Amino acid sequence: MRIIDLIIKKKRGKILSGEEIKFFIDGYVSGDIPDYQVSSLLMAIYFQGMNKQETTDLTLAMVDSGDRVDLSAIKGIKVDKHSTGGVADTATLIVGPLVAASGGLVAKMSGRGLGHTGGTLDKLESIPGLNISQTMERFAEIVNTCGVSVIGQTGNLVPADKKLYALRDVTGTVDNVSLISGSIMSKKLASGSDKIVLDVKTGSGAFMKDVEGAVELAKMMVDIGTLAGKETVALVTDMNQPLGNAVGNSLEVIEAIEILAGQHEGDLKAVSVALASKMLVLGEIFSTEKEAVEKINEVIENGEALNRFAQMIKMQEGDPEVVKNTGLLPAAGSIIEVKAEADGYIQSMNTENMGMVALLLGAGRTKKTDLVDPAVGYWLKKRIGDLVKKGDVLADFHVNDRKNLDESIELFKKSIIIGKNPGKKIDLIYNTIS
Ligand code: URA
Ligand code: CA
Repeated sequence: MRIIDLIIKKKRGKILSGEEIKFFIDGYVSGDIPDYQVSSLLMAIYFQGMNKQETTDLTLAMVDSGDRVDLSAIKGIKVDKHSTGGVADTATLIVGPLVAASGGLVAKMSGRGLGHTGGTLDKLESIPGLNISQTMERFAEIVNTCGVSVIGQTGNLVPADKKLYALRDVTGTVDNVSLISGSIMSKKLASGSDKIVLDVKTGSGAFMKDVEGAVELAKMMVDIGTLAGKETVALVTDMNQPLGNAVGNSLEVIEAIEILAGQHEGDLKAVSVALASKMLVLGEIFSTEKEAVEKINEVIENGEALNRFAQMIKMQEGDPEVVKNTGLLPAAGSIIEVKAEADGYIQSMNTENMGMVALLLGAGRTKKTDLVDPAVGYWLKKRIGDLVKKGDVLADFHVNDRKNLDESIELFKKSIIIGKNPGKKIDLIYNTIS
C-alpha cells in the first residue's frame, strides 16, 4: 500500500477501506508517513468527508495506536464526560464532584487547552500543590475513596491523536465531523470508562459553528460509542458566549467552587447539572433525571458536593483549603475594568476571539512551549441580551504581565457587539442525542 494512492482516492471522493485507514494511522504514528502527506490526506478528508464506517474505522485504528486503560480496579459503573471544547467551560470541575456526591463514579482523564479553548488540566494545576499525574493504582484508589478523580492522560493513550491533533491545529483541519469524532471517541474508548456523556458545543466559540453541524457530530459520536459497546449520550449546548463568567484558570476554579457551594447560578451551572444528571442516570444511580436533579440540589445545599471536590484535591496532593478560601489560589497583580463604549443591548459575542483574549493575557498557550499564568484572565460581567450603558463594566481583567494588554482589550471590545435591539434569543441546550 502507498499513502499517495490513498490521498488520490480520497481526493476523488472515494471510500477508504478499514485496512487503508489502519495503514495510514499506523504509518503516521511509526513515523513512516511524513507530516506533509498526512496534511494532504487530512485536507482531502476535510473536503470529501468520511462516512460512518470510515469514521468508525478511523476511531478504532486510533484506539489501537496505544494502550487501553484498565479501570476494573474501580468497582461500579464509571461514566466519562467530554466536551468538544469551548470558552469558560469549567463543567468538568463541577460535574465530577456533583456526580460523586450523588453516588456516581467519575474517573476522568482530561486534556490541556487547544486553540482558543481552555483545558481542565491547566485549571486544576492552578490549585497549589495539585498533581494531575497519578499512577493508575492511585487513580483507582482516589475514585474508590471519594468518587471522583481528574488526571492527565497516561503516556501512551492514543498517540495517534497527539500527532494528528497537533497537525490538524496548524493545517486548518480541526472542524470536521469525522476527524473530531475520531479524536474524541478514540480517547473515550481507550480511557476505560463504561459509559459516556458528551457535551457537543455549537456557536461562535465552538469548533462546530452551526447547530446542524453539531448535531451531525453528536450523532456520529453516539453511533461510534454505541457500536463499540459503550452507551453514549450527547447534549448539544450553546457556545455563542463564554459558558461561565470566568475565563482563565484560577478564576474558573473560583467559579466552580462558587457553583458547588451554591453561591452562583447561571448557564455554567445549568449545563453542569444537565450533564451530571445524565451521568447519574447512565450510571444507574437514579432511574430518572428528575430524581438525579433533586439529589444534585441536595448535595449542593448540604455541602457534600464541595466536600468531594476538597477531598479529591487533597488526595491529588493539592491544598483542600482553597474551597473555603479562594484567596489561596494564585491572584493577578492588578484588576482593570473594561467598559462599554456605547449604550445598547449585547447582541452577540465572537466567543472564539474571547478565548483568544485570555490566551493573549497569558491564560493559555499560543505555542506548545508557552508557560501558562494561572492567575490571569477576565471575569465577564454581562451576557447576551443584557442592556448596557456607556461606561458600564463589561469585564474585570486580571493581569500580571501587561505585554499584550492593549491588544487584549481591543480584541475583547471588538468581540462584543452592542446594538439598538436585543438581538436573537439563544437556547442553552439545543438537543439530546442517545
Ligand atoms: N477535542 C478533541 O479532543 N479533539 C478534537 O478534534 C476537537 C475537540
Ligand atoms: Ca476556559
